[in-house]
Amino acid sequence: MTLIESFYPVLKPWLFRLDAERAHTFTVKMMIIAHRLGMLKSVVPGPQQPRSVMGLTFPNALGLAAGMDKSASAVEAWGALGFGAVEVGTLTPRPQPGNPKPRLFRLPEHEALINRMGFNNPGIQSAVKKLQQRRTKAVVGVNIGKNFDTPNEDAVSDYLICLKAAYSVADYIAVNISSPNTKGLRDLQAEGAVRELISALKKEQAVLQQEHGKQVPLLVKIAPDLNEMQIEALARVFNEQSIDGVIATNTTIERTAIKGHRLANETGGLSGAPVRERSNQVLQAFRMLLKEQIPLIGVGGIVSGADAVEKMKAGAALVQVYSGLVYRGPGLVREVLEKIKP
Ligand SMILES: Cc1cc2nc3c(=O)[nH]c(=O)nc-3n(C[C@H](O)[C@H](O)[C@H](O)COP(=O)(O)O)c2cc1C
Repeated sequence: MTLIESFYPVLKPWLFRLDAERAHTFTVKMMIIAHRLGMLKSVVPGPQQPRSVMGLTFPNALGLAAGMDKSASAVEAWGALGFGAVEVGTLTPRPQPGNPKPRLFRLPEHEALINRMGFNNPGIQSAVKKLQQRRTKAVVGVNIGKNFDTPNEDAVSDYLICLKAAYSVADYIAVNISSPNTKGLRDLQAEGAVRELISALKKEQAVLQQEHGKQVPLLVKIAPDLNEMQIEALARVFNEQSIDGVIATNTTIERTAIKGHRLANETGGLSGAPVRERSNQVLQAFRMLLKEQIPLIGVGGIVSGADAVEKMKAGAALVQVYSGLVYRGPGLVREVLEKIKP
């Protein structure tokens, strides 16, 4: 066991006494410092477990989900810890502060979080600048969105700005149309809207590929709160537009799993254990409907190695974690990697 793994259980009770967002900011800063001091030891057990997906070589199948490193300030540290991929963002064309605080809540009884951050981020240019210095071997995905005050009619232009800005530094681009905390964003999942958005982005991707001489895969991140008809419509568009990958899923606005909890009525997206079942159902549904060559990244509710195995069985080529890391710390990275060895 590495120092950081044994340290987390000691640190956790103290962190959990802090406001959730302050604890998060503190932890990320600590990670950066620990890495700079050479104290961050990889928790990867045994030899690396590379996976080839979308033409990219991932050092292993576990990635850090979007939202943990919105500003791309700690990619080196996450890579050094052992993640095979780090998805930074969501980033928008212009910087924005996000929603008023408090906007992040812990529900330890459920190993869950509720957040309504609202895309607080320093803007795409700031992240691109940081990523120009990257040295990590981890695959770096850039998750992009629209500014809160950009009307949906102009959303395509926001995503295009971000795609063009991030293309040279990203290994893949994730198009986020599934955050519940930006008004109207999920409406972009409607068949007509998503077709318009993806076809514009795919066209631009072809232009950028010529310009930069490299192919950067384009993925779409979807919500767990989709009915059967919506899933079928989305899969139709993804197949027809030959999207490069799908990330399933974002947080849920459903509250049945935490009914009666004092924080159940907080507005925002619920993540962690309570989203797992629905997330897996949506993942499985897309695996059945999507062309075989379109890979899925499974995210939502992985709080143990067994949960990660379950996601791979449901059809994920790769997996990601966020909330599980808050509850389990770096030990979760080791446990997942031990369980999902190829
Ligand atoms: C505090 C917080 C912020 C998040 N921010 C983003 C974001 O900016 N963009 C995004 O695509 N997903 C975001 N997510 C969603 C996660 O990437 C992930 O899809 C979701 O939390 C489910 O995974 P989990 O159960 O492992 O947490 C956020 C989640 C949390 C808890």
